[in-house]
Amino acid sequence: MKEVLLAGKDICRAFQGNAGGLVLNHITLDIYAGDFTVIMGSSGAGKSTLLYALSGMDEITGGEIWYRGREISRFKEKQMSDLRTHEFGFVFQQTHLVSNLTLYENVVVAGYLGSGQKTKEVEQRADGLLCRMGVEKAKDRLPAEVSGGEAQRAAVARAVINHPGILFADEPTGALNRQNTQEVLNLLTGLNEAGQSILMVTHDVRAAIRGSRILYLEDGKILDELTFPPYRDEASKTREIRLNEWLSALSW
Ligand SMILES: Nc1ncnc2c1ncn2[C@@H]1O[C@H](COP(=O)(O)OP(=O)(O)O)[C@@H](O)[C@H]1O
Ligand SMILES: [Mg+2]
Repeated sequence: MKEVLLAGKDICRAFQGNAGGLVLNHITLDIYAGDFTVIMGSSGAGKSTLLYALSGMDEITGGEIWYRGREISRFKEKQMSDLRTHEFGFVFQQTHLVSNLTLYENVVVAGYLGSGQKTKEVEQRADGLLCRMGVEKAKDRLPAEVSGGEAQRAAVARAVINHPGILFADEPTGALNRQNTQEVLNLLTGLNEAGQSILMVTHDVRAAIRGSRILYLEDGKILDELTFPPYRDEASKTREIRLNEWLSALSW
């Protein structure tokens, strides 16, 4: 039995001025440890809203969110920000790297602030991560001096420097070209193989096929899910075909 990492119970999210419509309409779901879970759905389906709700970045208007047996939707702001710093990692479409720090500095600073790891441990881990991510040559450059793909890989390194229990990613390849997209996806796949739980939102089929479990969100509800064995490059074409068939059946 897989460990339930995150559980949403009857989650609702309404926005003021939205005529009482629910962007998240009574969603109940479990996210399992070790999975590479993907949330798909058309633009405006509520994918980002769901990710922000589950990660405590945004409030919910009904329901409960549980992380490893703790009801985080009841947490006060301080408890929540501690949890985000110590237990959660985040990657977005934009890197949000600090522009006057080098890639390496961006990563270690997050580590110094985050984890209670010793300075030396943080620095070794940062070096190791940047190396694994193939950006060791660019590590002493500023974000503006490297490619979008290199910057995004550094952003992923920063997101996992504190050994997060879960890595949240919202369209992490949305701003990248084809080559950089594959590099960032390979990186995420490698982290997942090494045990990192990931929850990623995307509307890109090439990104979604990396997942082991794909949820389809529409009109504020999870309509269906598809599961895959762990990703292997050689099998990616068949996987893409299956995913496309599944999406067509859902009127994607
Ligand atoms: N802060 C907000 N205020 C009002 N409406 C919002 C806000 N954020 C999102 N929405 C609405 O919620 C719906 C879902 O948005 P979002 O979660 O960003 O979709 P997705 O990520 O799937 O494209 C959209 O109709 C959007 O207009
Ligand atoms: Mg979005």
